[in-house]
Amino acid sequence: MQRRLLATMAALSVAAILGTALWAGAWEREPLSVFHERRARLIRETGGDGVVVLFGLGEADVAASVMPFRQNEEFYYLTGWNEPGAIMLLMPKARAPGSASELGEEILYIPSHDRSEEKWTGPKLAPTDEAAPERTGFPAVHDISKFDAELEAALKHFSTIYTELSPQPESGEDCFQAEMVDKIRDKAPRASLVDIRMTIGGMRAVKTEGEIALIRKAVDASIEAHFAAMRAVKPGVWEYEIAALMKYEFERRGCEWPAYPPIVGSGFYSTVLHYDLDSNQMKDGEVVVMDVAGSYGGYASDITRTLPVNGHFTPRQREIYEIVLGAQDAALKAAKPGMYLGHHGYKGLYEIAFNYINTHGKDSHGQPLGQYFIHGLSHPIGLNVHDPMDYNRPLAPGMVITIEPGIYIPEENLGFRIEDDVLINPAGYELLTR
Ligand code: GLY
Ligand code: MN
Ligand code: MN
Repeated sequence: MQRRLLATMAALSVAAILGTALWAGAWEREPLSVFHERRARLIRETGGDGVVVLFGLGEADVAASVMPFRQNEEFYYLTGWNEPGAIMLLMPKARAPGSASELGEEILYIPSHDRSEEKWTGPKLAPTDEAAPERTGFPAVHDISKFDAELEAALKHFSTIYTELSPQPESGEDCFQAEMVDKIRDKAPRASLVDIRMTIGGMRAVKTEGEIALIRKAVDASIEAHFAAMRAVKPGVWEYEIAALMKYEFERRGCEWPAYPPIVGSGFYSTVLHYDLDSNQMKDGEVVVMDVAGSYGGYASDITRTLPVNGHFTPRQREIYEIVLGAQDAALKAAKPGMYLGHHGYKGLYEIAFNYINTHGKDSHGQPLGQYFIHGLSHPIGLNVHDPMDYNRPLAPGMVITIEPGIYIPEENLGFRIEDDVLINPAGYELLTR
């Protein structure tokens, strides 16, 4: 957050000098009432028979010496709280049999002031600060040292603890989760622990208006980065120069960081899906895949374009490019509520794209090209570039997904991917990356 403020100040002064209008502002988040509503819904979804405990990440959990602090996604989704070392405890209200469960106490536990630490990482909110409830949206903000005793007291009324039991590999937080779960087991050996991750994942799949607005900002800044890259790509340019230029372009427009490690791969490396070394020099006659996008207010965008390095496709390059584009068009035309992202017969967007690729063009041995479409067609985006999703759930309004067919033929040093971000709406879809 510190870093963001400085970046914003720098962007504002550059904007003032250049007289240009850049996106500006500190870390943007939805109103605190939205996070409270999510907590209330979560209690309803659990049935109100237990407490919910979620742990935020600590400074040490995210290699803070080399990376800015980034909150656990589920924790952020339910609290909007972006400072390290916090815990959330939710309790349902006591209720009459048959009535709906309602959120009762909601407590945010945060560390007390550590003035010497704050000299390094900046001023932090402490539970004793008068503004704590207003700043957090939690009616009760307690010192973290009270958590153990208050959880124990809550467990006199509830025997179930809903928490995160399964790791989310995308966030690299596996060790952290296991350690915290062990701590709860130690503290409450008689309580039954139930995994809450699928429930929160189901909520995250359909975005609020506020989340969609943040994704739009990530998308818009990343589109400008792609335009800058299109102007800069030419023979002799290094892949890392393009990656650096793109990061500069979306970060100066308010994105806090790349939504994933930038992938800029030319020649043979256009065929390597998650090639993020970006260490080769682009050559005349090659194509370059640029899968690069930023994250704004914690929300990812995910965009890929494939260009001829010298500005002109060869006939073969154009042929493959047009097939990928045709596959994307076919999938887009079918994108609407009720369809599925993955393999799902005629209702699966993947099948539609695969069948297009497999019935257009041939490899150098006369074989169909379906075998060269080696990844999924689509995934949801949100707080994670690969947001949680039950692929057996049909598309619904408010879901934001990528559509990203690709063909990769290493034998010909030809890799093509075109990736766009799409908001599903009642009528079908809106192409956010238009
Ligand atoms: N940029 C990662 C992906 O497209 O899934
Ligand atoms: Mn993607
Ligand atoms: Mn991508």
